[in-house]
Amino acid sequence: MPEVSEPTLVTGVRIPVGVDTSRASIARVYDATLGGKDNYDVDRNVRDKVAEIAPQQSDVARMNRQWLHRVVRYLSGPAGIDQFLDIGAGLPTVGNTHEIAQQQNPAAAVVYVDNDPVCNIHGRVLLESNDYTHFVPADLTEPNTLLAHPEVVAHLDLTRPLALILCGILHHVDDHLDPAGIMRHYIDAIPTGSYVAITHFADPDDGTEAHEMAIELQNRFINAGLGSGWYRTHDQIASYFGDLELLPPGPHLGPDLAELDDWWPMGPELEPRCTEKRLLLGGVGRKTGPSNPVVTPLRRRTDR
Ligand SMILES: C[S@@+](CC[C@H](N)C(=O)[O-])C[C@H]1O[C@@H](n2cnc3c(N)ncnc32)[C@H](O)[C@@H]1O
Repeated sequence: MPEVSEPTLVTGVRIPVGVDTSRASIARVYDATLGGKDNYDVDRNVRDKVAEIAPQQSDVARMNRQWLHRVVRYLSGPAGIDQFLDIGAGLPTVGNTHEIAQQQNPAAAVVYVDNDPVCNIHGRVLLESNDYTHFVPADLTEPNTLLAHPEVVAHLDLTRPLALILCGILHHVDDHLDPAGIMRHYIDAIPTGSYVAITHFADPDDGTEAHEMAIELQNRFINAGLGSGWYRTHDQIASYFGDLELLPPGPHLGPDLAELDDWWPMGPELEPRCTEKRLLLGGVGRKTGPSNPVVTPLRRRTDR
């Protein structure tokens, strides 16, 4: 394990990289980690710097996708959800949200959102494959603007239960942007019966080798070109669910966040779990309570 160093704090609202190939982009680094082709040297450099510390980080990215598939299958099947707002959708890959949801319900509506123009170009070409699937350019950190976007309101009925998917995006929102406050706004705005699914880089904060790896990975993500990639504690991540009722991640487990391979796994694990896989937590929360959404006034940003 390399020496642990505190990350240099490089915070700020990052302008999405888009077509600039001289700067690493979150979406392209993730694509490179998944083994995709839509990435450049600058992105592969970040992937490789991370792999020096966490050689199985590609398995972590694949695990994240498999978790998304299980969650969307559950929500569009047994849970009866027929509309999905997938924020931070990324570049199209294998098994996108609409493909999984529409296997269960061909009329399930899916709106993908990303603030990176390259994701939008690829998304529009590859993901808008039917009348129920749309790709929208918008920013997670501006919930009022995002939820009022004409294509969001045209294709989703925000007065009926929906699923909000936030896979691998909130760890790219800096603390000073108040990720918990942003989430509170989304949760207030969605109706009772809705679900929120989140995956997030996690720091066990327990002095172990896993904690050291989390600090070093955060350091690399932030300083090797992305400027974000925060490993937060279980309680910080849990706070993003507000007062949603977390689902139990398995038949003998209480409602909580879980390492992704513990969340209703597909079957027995065949290999010992590597440390890097333990550094991504996920959970699904359900909104219970009064049926009318109450939208709280927002502060600080232009629309919050
Ligand atoms: C790591 S990728 C995750 C892709 C996909 N959700 C998954 O889990 O497989 C994160 C995505 O979030 C997008 N993103 C980052 N910050 C964002 C923001 N403020 N608003 C919208 N999208 C954002 C990035 O452009 C990137 O495509």
